[in-house]
Amino acid sequence: MLNEKIARLINHQVNQEFYSAYLYLHFSNYFTEHSLDGFANWYQVQAQEERDHAMLFSRYLHDNGAAVTLDTIPSPVQSCPPQDHLSVLKAALAHEESVTRLINEIYSQAHDSRDFRTMEFLNWFVKEQCEEENTARELVAKMELFGSDPRSLYLLNSELASRQYTPAAQG
Ligand code: FEO
Repeated sequence: MLNEKIARLINHQVNQEFYSAYLYLHFSNYFTEHSLDGFANWYQVQAQEERDHAMLFSRYLHDNGAAVTLDTIPSPVQSCPPQDHLSVLKAALAHEESVTRLINEIYSQAHDSRDFRTMEFLNWFVKEQCEEENTARELVAKMELFGSDPRSLYLLNSELASRQYTPAAQG
């Protein structure tokens, strides 16, 4: 059995990952409405990955005898209003950095509780967050470099249109 505090933190993470999916759908909508279908595709795939993350955390709770409680997902529309293309990419990076802090907090609690199973489970997420932050940072850098040139923006949009969803799996 998981200790209560760790189960509560992981349950919170389930809800946070669903929020991440919701946030990225919000960003995808923004780009669709600004005729940047590649960026929209990129965030839609990102949203699908976030849902997978939520399901991995849910399954871990169930596999370890704990319950999953789904909360209300807050709307990102007011709290994260897109100002322009770059601000969306920067908000995504800031969001990933905040997710990393949450994962680190669970890891830290698992470490203090000598909960080696949870630490092992979280290792995949620790690595994943490094990738997520790097990708988000790269997108910000590319937009800063090329975003003001329409032809470069077109090419960047085409590059992002090729991203395909593959289900996230630990291992
Ligand atoms: Fe589920 Fe983007 O971290």
